[in-house]
Amino acid sequence: MANKRQLKLGTMLHGAGGHMAAWRHPQAVIDASVNVEFYKSLVKSAEAAKFDLVFVADGLYITEKSHPNFLNRFEPITILSALASVSSKIGLVGTLSTSYSDPYTVARQFASLDLISNGRAGWNAVTSPLEGSAFNYSRDEHPSHELRYRIANEFLQVAKGLWDSWEDDAFIRNRETGQFIDPAKMHRLDHKGEFFSIQGPLNIARSRQGQPLIFQAGSSEAGKDLAAKEADAVFTGHESLEEAKRFYKDVKERAVAYGRSPEDIKIFPGINPIIGETVEEAERKYQEIAGLVSIEDALNYLGRYFDHFDFSQYPLDEPVPDLGALGSEGFKSTSDWIKRIAKEENLTLRQLALRVTTPRKEGFIGTPVQVADHIQQWFEEEAADGFMIGSAVLPVGLNDFIQYVVPILQERGLFRTEYEHDTLRGNLGLPIPANRYTIARELRAAAVARP
Ligand SMILES: Cc1cc2nc3c(=O)[nH]c(=O)nc-3n(C[C@H](O)[C@H](O)[C@H](O)COP(=O)(O)O)c2cc1C
Repeated sequence: MANKRQLKLGTMLHGAGGHMAAWRHPQAVIDASVNVEFYKSLVKSAEAAKFDLVFVADGLYITEKSHPNFLNRFEPITILSALASVSSKIGLVGTLSTSYSDPYTVARQFASLDLISNGRAGWNAVTSPLEGSAFNYSRDEHPSHELRYRIANEFLQVAKGLWDSWEDDAFIRNRETGQFIDPAKMHRLDHKGEFFSIQGPLNIARSRQGQPLIFQAGSSEAGKDLAAKEADAVFTGHESLEEAKRFYKDVKERAVAYGRSPEDIKIFPGINPIIGETVEEAERKYQEIAGLVSIEDALNYLGRYFDHFDFSQYPLDEPVPDLGALGSEGFKSTSDWIKRIAKEENLTLRQLALRVTTPRKEGFIGTPVQVADHIQQWFEEEAADGFMIGSAVLPVGLNDFIQYVVPILQERGLFRTEYEHDTLRGNLGLPIPANRYTIARELRAAAVARP
């Protein structure tokens, strides 16, 4: 088993669960999205099951129609810092926006989380799809999709540069001599780009894993390109195996074109397994969850992908109206996909809203063996390096997966029974990035030494 490619697993910590009506489920924790003890219990369960990471998502704009979890939720870095103190091996990944933050602040925040957690931090860098975000950040206008990704590109380069401000042996801390630092190993970035002007250095050192990991969750062309260039891992969502395989190949090929190895970037499709002892039981559980959502709520959920568009003005049982370019500046890849399935499958508005609200991925609703089989198939056919396990309802969705599916994956030698490392990079099998200035110093020394 030692050299066999190993499956990676992460899980979403999303309040009462990913489903819009999760909080109404009898097994849900009613105040989950602001209940720190509940979050602690989830991270402990995921770590006991040897998951690679937990993930806290985020957004910057709400209305009264938003998903209930989004109305009252923790800021990711803050809750992850609390979770660092009750865990020791599992990765801690959170979303932060490149469109509504400053690189110096973000670099500090993730570097701090990385030291607090002893090398387990990851940043899901998103460009913020919701247009209303501008109104919460003293802006008149939300930047266009193209501009947001241009900013994100520079943002990530700057953050990585700032993270290298201190070489790993820069802090001497010699009480006798009084030498605290080696100034030759402190570096100013002196970045002047299209969007940012940052001198540096950053006021915090690197962690045991070198730098926090970069995750990327946008699946548009610009999103895939940014991931291929800068990210260590990608969160994505696909309805079918074929679609997931195409995406996987595309991102890996783009990474190779940027001079990287395909193994340098890990791809994690999101799935929401629903497990039953029998297929019928799993189906009943799915229907129970689906039945909790009203059609009004489903229309609101759909509307969020289209700049909070009001779908209630259209007849429910007629084909979805032509949406033109609506949504293409926000959740681009998701809204494009929704428009495509509505058209290709000639869905009514009711069918579309219910499908988007309670998605079902073939093969991931069923018995433990069926779900494990599909995970194995997606993994072995190169549609995934790992999976983000979402739960329609928490904690029951995660607990079922851990209790019934993880042991099967372990028995098949696909998933670890013990952590290999205690850093996120180590567990994902990603190398520690050497400090750029140390590399340059070593290259200079080698050049001098050469006869
Ligand atoms: C597992 C997963 C987690 C995500 N988390 C977030 C998040 O926390 N915040 C966010 O704005 N977008 C998140 N996204 C991405 C959005 O769903 C959306 O695809 C993206 O913002 C639009 O990117 P695009 O313009 O490149 O299509 C996530 C996607 C996936 C698959």
